[in-house]
Amino acid sequence: MLPSGPRTPSFVQAYQFIFQPAAYTRALRAKYGDAVRFSSAIGKGVAVMDPALAREVFAAPPETFEALPMLEPLFGFGAVIAVSGERHKKLRKLLNPRFHGAEVKGFLSVMQRVIREHVARLERVAGTDEVVRAIDVTQALALDVICETVFGESDGLDRPLAREVLRSMVHAFHPSILGGAIFQRPWFPPWRRLLRARSAFDAWADRLIQARRARGDDALGNDVLGVLLAARYEDGAPMDDAEIRDQLITLLLAGHETSATAMAWAVYYLARAPETLARLRQELDALGPQPSPEVVVRLPYLDAVAAETLRIEPIVTDIIRVCRQPFTVANTWTIPKGEIVAVMLVSILRDERVFPEPERFRPERFLEKKFGPAEFLPFGGGARRCLGAAFAEAELGLAIAELAQCWELVLADDAPERATRKNLTMGPARGVRIRIRGRRAPALARGAA
Ligand code: HEM
Repeated sequence: MLPSGPRTPSFVQAYQFIFQPAAYTRALRAKYGDAVRFSSAIGKGVAVMDPALAREVFAAPPETFEALPMLEPLFGFGAVIAVSGERHKKLRKLLNPRFHGAEVKGFLSVMQRVIREHVARLERVAGTDEVVRAIDVTQALALDVICETVFGESDGLDRPLAREVLRSMVHAFHPSILGGAIFQRPWFPPWRRLLRARSAFDAWADRLIQARRARGDDALGNDVLGVLLAARYEDGAPMDDAEIRDQLITLLLAGHETSATAMAWAVYYLARAPETLARLRQELDALGPQPSPEVVVRLPYLDAVAAETLRIEPIVTDIIRVCRQPFTVANTWTIPKGEIVAVMLVSILRDERVFPEPERFRPERFLEKKFGPAEFLPFGGGARRCLGAAFAEAELGLAIAELAQCWELVLADDAPERATRKNLTMGPARGVRIRIRGRRAPALARGAA
């Protein structure tokens, strides 16, 4: 048996899932309940919108599902985000320990240095009437965080060139190529652009990989590239160069826009919530002008502010699994082999049964209650939970801390920001327009410290 759902044509449903995910899933849930039959551009399936059902999807043995086939040509045929089954299991076993909280600690100083450099550049507009889009600041910042944490230890790294190669790759990732295999053809200009950017990236990354290998096994470096080169599968085999390139592309594409968007939303919500900002600053200022990143990322209220930002504005709206075999949810609905089960993160993160007053930005909720992994799930769950979650949380925390501590930020106008589709993710439609009023005292004290 399958749940009921809308009978509108699949392209209409696809449009609504892609462009109005929050409102559409709210309406679907009100009408059909927590499991809804859908038919969209990526195929037919069942969307689940309740933590108990999400838990069932996450707990299913990994061989139950596979990734959407259209991801392979986009990220690479060896990319962790695109491969399935045994191959995915093997790759996650190799990568998970390298992106674990304890390992991410090794990146904190680099992250903090890059964040400080970018946040300090706001000096240029401080005290003026110039309007800055927070998303432009955070995108440049997130790109440099990736550049430095992934490639930073390359000898003589040409940073302007690195930024250019990475930026072209990110920009070539146009939403139109997500429409399915039909658009992944040479006749389609955005696809050609992606292939061009990809081959420039591959040639550039190959040079870095060769130079790094030439340093010998004892000097591969502690950045992500070094970590990938040193990593070994259980049988002792390393990843080959093509596999490493596919992971590098994935980390760049999965980790740049997502993190930048989260930081921009944090600026927006903090600028609208003076009491929250004051409480956060109290926690931060108590650490003095030069807090170490290890101490900052452990602050409970900062952590709650970051979590509430990820909850109130889900950046990844849903996660999609293709069933390799019939899959039954709630002992009731059996999704046939080849169809999709989609966990609607956007609906669960704003579910009033889990998060009372879901439209309110209230970080305190995370101090009052511990939410389960199928309730607070901005990073998905199960075998494919975001590989970079600990990395992203640290980056987001450090960026919020720096922005809140350094500058008096105000929104340039009262118009509310709305989430709109940006490539794979949702982000603020107008980019969060701000003005910088001036520098705060703790940041001034830095010079003296
Ligand atoms: C706020 C920032 C981020 C959010 C909200 C986010 C969210 C997600 C979600 C929901 C998934 C699961 C997709 C699925 O199940 O199909 C995912 C996967 C993934 N993310 Fe993130 N992500 C963020 C940042 C990052 C960063 C910084 C990195 C890398 C440095 C990263 C690397 C990955 C990778 C490699 C996967 C694929 C995992 C797999 O398929 O096994 N993400 N992310």
